[in-house]
Amino acid sequence: MNGWRRTHTCGELGAEEVGQSVVLMGWVDVVRDLGGITFLELRDRMGVTQILISPSSGADVKNTAKRVGSEWVVAVKGEVLRRAEDNVNKSVATGEIEVRADGIEVLSEAKTPPFELNEGVKVSEDLRLRYRYLDLRRAPMRRNLEKRSKLGFAAREYLVGQGFNEIETPFLTKSTPEGARDYLVPSRVHKGSFYALPQSPQIFKQLLMIAGMERYFQIVRCFRDEDLRADRQPEFTQIDIEMSFIEPRDIYSLVEGLFVHMLRAIDIDVSAPFPKLRYDEAIDRYGSDKPDLRFGCEISDLGGVVRGSGYGIFESVLEGGGVVRAIVAKGCAGYSRKDLDNLEVSAKALGAKGLGWARWTDSELKSPLARHLGDDRMKQAFETAGGGVGDLLLIVAGERSRTSSVLGGLRIELAKREGWIREGEWKFVWVTEFPLLEYSESDGRWYSMHHPFTSPHPEDMDLIDTDPGAVRSLAYDVVANGYELGGGSIRIHNSGVQEKIFKALGLSDEEAKEKFGFFLEALQYGTPPHGGIALGFDRIAMLAVGGTSLRDVIAFPKTTSALDMMTGSPSDVTSAQLDELGIALKKV
Ligand code: AMO
Repeated sequence: MNGWRRTHTCGELGAEEVGQSVVLMGWVDVVRDLGGITFLELRDRMGVTQILISPSSGADVKNTAKRVGSEWVVAVKGEVLRRAEDNVNKSVATGEIEVRADGIEVLSEAKTPPFELNEGVKVSEDLRLRYRYLDLRRAPMRRNLEKRSKLGFAAREYLVGQGFNEIETPFLTKSTPEGARDYLVPSRVHKGSFYALPQSPQIFKQLLMIAGMERYFQIVRCFRDEDLRADRQPEFTQIDIEMSFIEPRDIYSLVEGLFVHMLRAIDIDVSAPFPKLRYDEAIDRYGSDKPDLRFGCEISDLGGVVRGSGYGIFESVLEGGGVVRAIVAKGCAGYSRKDLDNLEVSAKALGAKGLGWARWTDSELKSPLARHLGDDRMKQAFETAGGGVGDLLLIVAGERSRTSSVLGGLRIELAKREGWIREGEWKFVWVTEFPLLEYSESDGRWYSMHHPFTSPHPEDMDLIDTDPGAVRSLAYDVVANGYELGGGSIRIHNSGVQEKIFKALGLSDEEAKEKFGFFLEALQYGTPPHGGIALGFDRIAMLAVGGTSLRDVIAFPKTTSALDMMTGSPSDVTSAQLDELGIALKKV
């Protein structure tokens, strides 16, 4: 760097520094050649400063300035000048000054970038990911990563302040069941054997409770080979927490305090405590176990209204143990036939057999159902669902959980379409008392709804053998704006109960021993009652920066098909590497 030392960043010079001699270093953002005068916008991570190359600048400086292009890295030495009144740029922190270059050193030349780095320019996702290091030069990505860093720092600060220790757990380990497939790592030393990358540190954090650590946390990478979406990455980060001698309410207040503290670090105020909804209530009222509470449009049951109407379709659904439920779209009575057809297409895609509707305009109540149910019943249905003149009623009949999820899906679709969601608002909610187990028709067996270490609700312990589907658990999720931001539970701390749950999950004694023998043994050496939670750090950061994809807050993310576009991984390995691992590839 020619022996020069950077004196300031490109974001800090102002009127106070006028007259000072400074050295700035950064990337050339823009070159503006106005004939005799050239301006360079010099950018670093702190901001942009205008560099002036005037007719009186030396020949060297002028020649160098002629050569440089966008994204070249340069050092500039010069004097800070006050800009003429009509050249002041109030939208930039350094807009009052410019630096007259007395010397310019090219530190690094640059090829023309494959896309413009300006904030406003739209660039395809593929290109951004292939040249991620250029994409990260763009201001929004830089700001997002800075906020993520602050959130992480605040999380550590809060948890350490609450007496937690950050303890690392292994990445090369044995499978921990969290419902996804494992990423496997072959062992060279023990050919034919594999480590699994952790889907979460679940078992290790419980072992740390058995070890007497009492308050553990870790900001930790987890790995899951599952179908990816905008809010799922194959490797993602959890704020993982475990505590001994606690009840769910201890987790609730700890996590509420943690959210308040983290978000305050980036100037977002949220209020605690968060409301609570039982799982069954969340499903019945919002059709989702991660309800978005930023708007109303709750689901209502119309069973009482339509029963006895003589309308065959509804009557037979009710007789078969199903439900007839509805939502009211406020102010949507003016929907056209086409709008309603589109909603029906959505309802069917969500699993409904059909979609009933009724529009209550000023003059009349219009509905294809009116001739089956009669005007009075239709009005009663509207009122039961909380609607009236000016509103649209959408009715779905069928099996209870499917009907809920269809109406829950329509609720979200309407909110997006009608702009019911106020950006910048945060609506947290705890969803509690999840069922312990869910049945898979296709596999013909029970699965843990969270994971097999979740404690059954003490009141339902006896139902495990007789009615597994009715057993509630001591599991909870923390949800914000329709996103599951975290999940956890009070754990089983008794090896007998743990064995019973493995059995309910269809694991034979041998399988349980083979997979979790070390853990069942550990539970017998004095296990404190304990519980915890893991928060999805990427999802928290995504909401906090107002993003819509985890890629907005992960420096080097994967695509939805789990590819790293930049490095080209996953990729082939040499046959020598495979030989060393004792692996032969099958033809696929
Ligand atoms: P769970 O599986 O619910 O619980 O995960 C906790 C939280 O991690 C986030 N998350 C993800 N984020 C991005 N990409 C993914 N693929 C992904 N999968 C999960 C979610 C989720 O709420 N061991 C338990 C926690 C416990 O019981 O303490 C666990 O991992 O925000």
